[in-house]
Amino acid sequence: MKVTVVGAGNVGATCADVLAHREIANEIVLVDIKPGFAEGKALDIWQTAPINLYDSRTVGSTGDYSKTANSDVVVITSGLPRKPGMSRDDLIATNAGIVKSVTENIIQHSPNAIIVIVSNPLDVMTYCAYLAAKVPSNRVFGMAGILDTARYRAFLAEALNCSPKDIQAVLMGGHGDTMVPLPRYTTVGGIPVTELIEKDKLDAIVERTKVGGGEIVNLLGTSAWYAPGAAAAQMVEAIVRDQKRIFPCCVWLQGEYGLKDIYLGVPVVLGKNGVEKIIELKLNEEEKALLDASAVAVKDVMSVLDRMNANA
Ligand code: NAI
Ligand code: 2OP
Repeated sequence: MKVTVVGAGNVGATCADVLAHREIANEIVLVDIKPGFAEGKALDIWQTAPINLYDSRTVGSTGDYSKTANSDVVVITSGLPRKPGMSRDDLIATNAGIVKSVTENIIQHSPNAIIVIVSNPLDVMTYCAYLAAKVPSNRVFGMAGILDTARYRAFLAEALNCSPKDIQAVLMGGHGDTMVPLPRYTTVGGIPVTELIEKDKLDAIVERTKVGGGEIVNLLGTSAWYAPGAAAAQMVEAIVRDQKRIFPCCVWLQGEYGLKDIYLGVPVVLGKNGVEKIIELKLNEEEKALLDASAVAVKDVMSVLDRMNANA
């Protein structure tokens, strides 16, 4: 299996490292626009092989997409963080330009690839890649839900003093403050979490999860990469090993949950065909209202991209 990761920065390089270390792909191509950067990161990752005892090969390229030809899966992490003086619309325009051109290059050389988007703002960048790729939506989707549930599960494991392995959870909505963690669908070793923790503590964990990305930005001055890189690699693994795993992913909705023409986080089955099924949970009124509010927030940002495309 061949996997390309575009953007050899913090998230992309971490993802490539996990893919190699866990032998999820035997050929990994890292691509970046900064001269020598992807080659350097790839060489460093490859030199961990004799230490970590694996044989997946990682190579780097500065913008030469011929090296990515016939990739089975492509992870796109290229994009700029927001800088002082930059409006949200400026950021969307910049990152949309990057994601669009990267996606076009990828599809030209790997017309059958499954594309996983990581670049922010996640939901709208996934939409942007879908418009540029012109392939069925089961092959273009975004990573956010695995990361957001991982944060939620880590906070719960700490509060309950139990193993994070035993916590199962689902979370829906956009990748931002409007995301919708679902305590009603959270279990710990099969036990509903609501039976194990007081409501006020659970509410606090839900609120902390919603701003989990910001918490790390405040500590580090930049966004997270270990968990995002591992989360993207977990999605790649589910695809290349055809695992039929159930994960929350940012996918194109066509009527599911009463929502249409929108990229939003919902639980899906991931396998060799990408998104193989969208799972429709029975939400109660409160949960549905939160999901609808999140959809409104995401549509708002998607419409910024639509306006830019219309004026282009
Ligand atoms: P970073 O700045 O460390 O890496 C981004 C890389 O993209 C840089 O090396 C840059 O040279 C490269 N790049 C820019 N334009 C390019 C182009 N046209 N072609 C190829 N490479 C290009 O940033 P980091 O921390 O790796 O984050 C990457 C993106 O992922 C950001 O947009 C960030 O907001 C997002 N992110 C999303 C998460 C999610 O849950 N979906 C979680 C964490 C980060
Ligand atoms: C995160 O959630 C900022 O999307 C990035 O860490």
